[in-house]
Amino acid sequence: MTESPSLSNLLKEERRFAPPAELAANANVTATAYEQAKADRLGFWAAQARRLTWGTEPTETLDWSNPPFAKWFKDGKLNVAYNCVDRHVEAGHGDRVAINFEGEPGDTRTLTYADLQREVSQAANALTELGVQAGDRVAVYMPMIPETVVAMLACARIGAPHSVVFGGFSADALATRIEDADARVVITADGGYRKGAASALKPAVDEALTRPGTEKVRNVLVVKRTGQEDIAWHEERDLWWHDVVGRQSEQHTPQDFDAEHPLFILYTSGTTGKPKGILHTTGGYLTQVAYTSHAVFDLKPETDVFWCTADVGWVTGHSYIVYGPLANGATEVLYEGTPDSPHKGRWWEIVQKYGVTVLYTAPTAIRASMKWGDDIPAKFDLSSLRILGSVGEPINPEAWVWYRHHIGGDRTPVVDTWWQTETGGMMISPLPGVTEAKPGSAQVPLPGIEATVVDDEANEVADGAGGYLVLTEPWPSMLRTIWGDDQRFLDTYWSRFENKYFAGDGAKKDDDGDVWLLGRVDDVMLVSGHNISTTEVESALVSHPKVAEAAVVGATDPQTTQAICAFVILRGGTAEDGELVEELRAHVAKQLGPIAKPKRILPVAELPKTRSGKIMRRLLRDVAENRTLGDTQTLTDASVMELIQSKLPSAA
Ligand code: WT7
Repeated sequence: MTESPSLSNLLKEERRFAPPAELAANANVTATAYEQAKADRLGFWAAQARRLTWGTEPTETLDWSNPPFAKWFKDGKLNVAYNCVDRHVEAGHGDRVAINFEGEPGDTRTLTYADLQREVSQAANALTELGVQAGDRVAVYMPMIPETVVAMLACARIGAPHSVVFGGFSADALATRIEDADARVVITADGGYRKGAASALKPAVDEALTRPGTEKVRNVLVVKRTGQEDIAWHEERDLWWHDVVGRQSEQHTPQDFDAEHPLFILYTSGTTGKPKGILHTTGGYLTQVAYTSHAVFDLKPETDVFWCTADVGWVTGHSYIVYGPLANGATEVLYEGTPDSPHKGRWWEIVQKYGVTVLYTAPTAIRASMKWGDDIPAKFDLSSLRILGSVGEPINPEAWVWYRHHIGGDRTPVVDTWWQTETGGMMISPLPGVTEAKPGSAQVPLPGIEATVVDDEANEVADGAGGYLVLTEPWPSMLRTIWGDDQRFLDTYWSRFENKYFAGDGAKKDDDGDVWLLGRVDDVMLVSGHNISTTEVESALVSHPKVAEAAVVGATDPQTTQAICAFVILRGGTAEDGELVEELRAHVAKQLGPIAKPKRILPVAELPKTRSGKIMRRLLRDVAENRTLGDTQTLTDASVMELIQSKLPSAA
C-alpha cells in the first residue's frame, strides 16, 4: 500500500491531553466498560440492547451460525420510531426540544418530542394511505429540514426501509439508486437553501423518473420548502406533503418488527461497478448507535445540546442526527446550509445561539475554518462546548489541536471517531472521560468492538508497524449484506482475510498499540469528506461524446484531502482546448453532482496500462502529485509516461 509522507509522520506526535477531571468524574461511561466487554462481549451487548424498549425482549444475542451473515437479537421485536420518539413522550419528556432547526436564510423551527410524535404519526399514516407497506422501499431526496428526519422516522415506524440519497447528487445518481432499491415512493422537496439562494431539488426527481428502471415509482411526495413557483407537476403522481401528511390523524400505533427487519439501505461508492447498497437492520443497529452516542458523546439528555453538522444523506447523519441522539432523547440542532453562508462565522454563531455542548464535524470543515482565520470563531461565545468530535477522514494533528484550542477553548476533549457506512456506528474512538487523547489518532476500539491491524498474510502487526485495518468479531450495527448482492458482500469485505472484515483502510499501530488511520487502500478518492469512486468519474467522462478514454486519480490536496485529477484521451486528437476542459468538468458535475467535478482535467495522447489492460493509476498519481515516477516495468509501453510528462509542463 502507499502512504502519503505526511501521514507516516503522524506517529511522532507526542502531545497528550488527559480528560478534564470533572468530565471524567461524571462520565456516562468509565474504564470498567472495557473490562466488562472484555470479560463477556456478548453479555456486554445484551446489556446495551436493554437501553432500548423492546416489544419482545431478545433471548439470543448473536446468531453467527452462518458467518458473515449475522443475526443480532433475532428473537426480539421493537419499533425504531417508538424508541426514538414515543417512549420519551411517555416518560414525561414531551416538552423537551428534540430538534432546534436553523434554516440557511435564518428561519427557525423548534420541534419537541411531542411535536415529533405527532408529525411522525401523520407521515406514517400518509405513507400507509399511499399504499406503502412493511418491507417496501422509499427513496428520500431532501434538503436538511425537519421533514427529512420525520420522513425517515415515519418509514422506520411502518417498517418500510428508506434509501436516503444525498440532495447534492444528480438525477442520474438518484435514478440508479431508485432502480437498485426498487423504490415505489420518493419523498423530496421543491428545493432547499444553499449558499444564500434557493436551490431546486424536484426537477432532478422529475428527470430521474424519466430514466428506464424507475417506472415503478407511484408517487412523489413533495415538501414545500422554498416555494419556487415554476416547478413541474405530474398530477397523477405528485403530491404535496402539506396536503397529504397535513390531513392525517396525529395518532398512529407503532407495530413491532423483528430485530433483523431491514431499516435502511444507504449507497456507498465502490471501486468498480455500481454503488453498493449497504443494508442495515433494526435492533443491532439501534443498539450500537444509541450506545455510542451515550458513550462517546457522553450525552446527558436533560442538559446537552448536540450538533452533528453532517448531511442526513450520509451515514453520519443517519446514525448521529437521526437514530443515535433521538434514541437517547437528546436535544439537537439541525442546520440546513453551508458553514460560510451568509458569513464565515455562521457555525460559531449557531453554537452560541443554541448553547451547543457537543459538536460533531469533519476534518475538512475544520481545515476550512483554520484557513478562514482564528479571529472568526474568536468573535463568538463558544464556552458551552464540552466535547468535540471528528469523523470522515484522518484528522491531522495540527487540525486536531487547532480544533481543541480555537473551538474548544482548550477545555474540551476531541474524540476522533473511525467508522464507515458499513459499520453503521462508531468503532474506534477515544472515550471523552477515560482516554488520554493523542492528536491525530482514533486510538482504541470501543468497548465490545474487536479491531486490529494485519499484514498481507493476515498476521497481526507488531506495535509500531502498519498494514490493513480489520474487524475480527461481529458487531451489532454491522452491515448485513449489499442489497441484492450477497456475493459482492462476501467478495468486498470477507474474502481478503479469512474470518475478518476488511475495512479497506490502511492503518498503523503506534508503540502503545493505538490505531492511526492512513486512508483508503483502494481507488476510492476522499474529497472534502466524501468518498468518490474513480470509476464513477471515469464513466461520467467517457459518457461525453468527445472523450475516448479517461483515468482518474485522487491527488493529495491540502484543502480537500484529495482533489480529483483526470487524464483524458480525446476523440480526434488532443486539442489544447480550455473550453472543452470546462465543458467536461461541467459534464461530470451534471452526471454525478458538483462534489465529483474534477479539479484538473489533462488531455493526453495515451494512458499507461498494464498488459492485462489495467490503467496504472499509481503512475498517474505520481504525475498529478509532481513526484518522480515509480516502477514503470509492468507498463505495456514505458515511453507513454515520458510522453505524458513532456506534453504536460503544467503537471510537472
Ligand atoms: C471511510 C468511511 C464514518 C462516517 C463518514 C464516512 C474514512 C472515517 C475516519 C476517521 C480516519 C476515517 C475511512 C473509512 N474515515 N472516519 N476518524 N479517521 N479515516 O463514511 O463514507 O462510509 O467512509 O472514511 O477511510 O473507511 P464512509
